[in-house]
Amino acid sequence: MLSTNGKTSRIKVRDKFFNLYLEKEKIDRIVSGIATCIDLDYQGKNPLFLGVLNGAFIFASDLLRKVKIPCEISFVKYSSYQGMASGEKVNRIIGLNETIRGREIIIVEDIVDTGLTMAKLLGDLKAFEPASVKIASFCFKKEAFRENFTIDYCGLEIPDLFVVGYGLDYDGAGRNFPDIYQLDETQ
Ligand code: IMP
Ligand code: MG
Repeated sequence: MLSTNGKTSRIKVRDKFFNLYLEKEKIDRIVSGIATCIDLDYQGKNPLFLGVLNGAFIFASDLLRKVKIPCEISFVKYSSYQGMASGEKVNRIIGLNETIRGREIIIVEDIVDTGLTMAKLLGDLKAFEPASVKIASFCFKKEAFRENFTIDYCGLEIPDLFVVGYGLDYDGAGRNFPDIYQLDETQ
């Protein structure tokens, strides 16, 4: 469905409808703002960005192209696999290695919801002895947040409603939309 400015205002992802929430032009301005802050905070340093797959791949690639200081990027992923005990689900992180030691780390996430995923990553990172760890998350569902870490670079606080697009998915689909859409709860 097209709105007056030619934007698709309503999309269907799998069985659900979503309404336009944040346009790509606004997303771009927010990412530029975060990049500027990081440039200022990390002058003379060479941070290692750590993107959390899958969701953060678009935000991470946009952010990296706007950051002007010397930097590197790597990616991590939580893979859930069946544990030894029957039916036990275990989340194991892959992609963390020795390159973390002594580095200034900036975690790049698409969204922090309850904060559980990030809290686990922060815990896992400690074992690799980074010099410092900061967090850049594009979206933050403040009302749903149950942890106590600080999001150093927060793009946007959003209500506790499901969103897709800009890397965010609904059951694996919808990551490719350049704008962000919010679940239509009236359906
Ligand atoms: P948390 O552990 O509750 O903070 O959830 C983090 C993960 O849940 C994110 O990395 C996303 O993969 C997923 N998630 C949470 N909220 C949304 C949403 O609104 N849309 C898409 N994915 C979400
Ligand atoms: Mg994610």
